[in-house]
Amino acid sequence: MFMKKIIEELLEKVRNTNIQTAEELEAFRTEFLSKKGKLNELFEEFKNIPKEAKKEVGQILNVLKNEVNSKYEEHKKKFQSVNTKNENIDLTCPPYPVQLGSRHPISIVKNEIVEIFERIGFVVSEGPEIEDDWHVFTALNFPFDHPARDMQDTFFIRRNPDILLRTHTSSVQIREMEKNKPPLRIIMPGRVYRNEAISARAHCFFHQIEGLYIDKKVSFADLKQTLFYFAQQMFGENTNIRLRPSYFPFTEPSAEMDISCNLCGGTGCAFCKYTGWVEILGCGMVDPNVLENCNISSKEYSGFAFGLGIERIANLKYRVNDIRLFSENDIRFLKQFTSAL
Ligand code: PHE
Repeated sequence: MFMKKIIEELLEKVRNTNIQTAEELEAFRTEFLSKKGKLNELFEEFKNIPKEAKKEVGQILNVLKNEVNSKYEEHKKKFQSVNTKNENIDLTCPPYPVQLGSRHPISIVKNEIVEIFERIGFVVSEGPEIEDDWHVFTALNFPFDHPARDMQDTFFIRRNPDILLRTHTSSVQIREMEKNKPPLRIIMPGRVYRNEAISARAHCFFHQIEGLYIDKKVSFADLKQTLFYFAQQMFGENTNIRLRPSYFPFTEPSAEMDISCNLCGGTGCAFCKYTGWVEILGCGMVDPNVLENCNISSKEYSGFAFGLGIERIANLKYRVNDIRLFSENDIRFLKQFTSAL
């Protein structure tokens, strides 16, 4: 019984074969299950053995066939889940949930303010941060001895005192009025620089938004109503405003605007120093000298302007009491702000 002996030996071999890798499984498959593999070979030979031996040999041959097949299937399942050839791995697939960045709180507040003014017809304009004396001071009617021109407040370039970092966005007003004829209705966001010691309340750079409206017969009532609309849109319908007389070289008359404290609702708290009011911006009617400096007839046209600090509005909105946090880029701080804008 030569064939039976071969089959028994093979059965022994199959039982002792230790399959550890996909390559070993493939070698096993080729040896036993491929076209020219041992099983096919044996079934081929089986046809030729004497009739009397068929039953006995056939039985053991079937045992071998079943054991080979089940061993193969069992290991195949194991290796299918681990793709050892890396063929189907998607290298673009993130290995863990990727966190989306969030908008900077200053950008969120800026976008919100811009959007409020866009709704009433203002359009955005921007100007350079590195400016000259004309656009930041002279055209804006600053007297030559005005303290804001002092080195203490303004960053100048030592080699050329005509070049400086703008201290306010009012410079963009001038650029717009020089370029365009009225009517003008523009909102001008941007970064400004002042030579100040850095503390929780002051920084050497911060952000402003400037507004300018020039047309025929623009009045102080227009200014007041526009700012009232802004305050209510920004801080809620119950917000009140008040204007206090003030002074800016480029506006006449000038005012500072307070809003009713949005923390205590105007009844008085530590935030508003128990006054019920918080200051948010400077404003006024554009000084005729400024219009004339830009070749706009002050007899024909009038207008109003206002400027507000974005950090100040962000402090009111988010109760961030240290202005330095806005520029430290600490992700733990920044990721707390979300916005649709
Ligand atoms: N430029 C002024 C400032 O920086 C703000 C302002 C703008 C005031 C426009 C009046 C009109 O404080």
